[in-house]
Amino acid sequence: TLPAPAPADLLAWYDRHARRLPWRIGPAERGRGVTPDPYRVWLSEIMLQQTTVTAVKPYFEAFLDRWPDVAALAAAPSEEVMKAWAGLGYYSRARNLKAAAEAVAGTLGGKFPQTESGLAALPGIGSYTAAAIASIAFDQPAAVVDGNVERVLTRVFAVETPLPGAKSEIRRLQERLTPKARPGDYAQAMMDLGATICTPKRPACVLCPWEASCAAHAAGIEESFPRKAAK
Ligand code: ADE
Repeated sequence: TLPAPAPADLLAWYDRHARRLPWRIGPAERGRGVTPDPYRVWLSEIMLQQTTVTAVKPYFEAFLDRWPDVAALAAAPSEEVMKAWAGLGYYSRARNLKAAAEAVAGTLGGKFPQTESGLAALPGIGSYTAAAIASIAFDQPAAVVDGNVERVLTRVFAVETPLPGAKSEIRRLQERLTPKARPGDYAQAMMDLGATICTPKRPACVLCPWEASCAAHAAGIEESFPRKAAK
């Protein structure tokens, strides 16, 4: 029987190999107690909902240059925001973005809600995005589950239930593993592991901090997870 995957080993890997993305703070800043700006975290998570990291980067930078905080975005004319969003697609995201900025800058007094349920009450924020913002911006141990997390956990634990039926089991595993310290880094480490090491095809297991804990790797059948229901 394999040793349990340790969140601490994943965090140590993240400290060395995290993708440097414009909405993240680096290890040096974190060491000095700097925390991520909720506005940047929120904006990035909305853009990343249906768009790749590569495509999002220039839009994220352009939005930040033009509207550096939530008050500026709330005060911007809608047509300008829609024009700046052009090319990212799924334009309901831009309409919701503007509505959420107005709610935060207005009724909420300029502060983003810090809980999953408070965040999920804002336009454009579903359960995944609420968990991501709560953990990354506010250090809440929310269970963040996206496609990358599903792939990593079904492999490590050799989850035999096919998707989508396995979702509740995957959520329980992620709730159990998410640490109280650095939950946002843990969530982003899972995303990075899934994007760069635990890839759908030919995962680079030799570089994985959880190699020794991975049931799928032990059996030599990494690519067969997540199991998919027969069509
Ligand atoms: N996709 C969604 N959120 C992300 C994040 N914070 N970092 C990298 N990829 C992401």
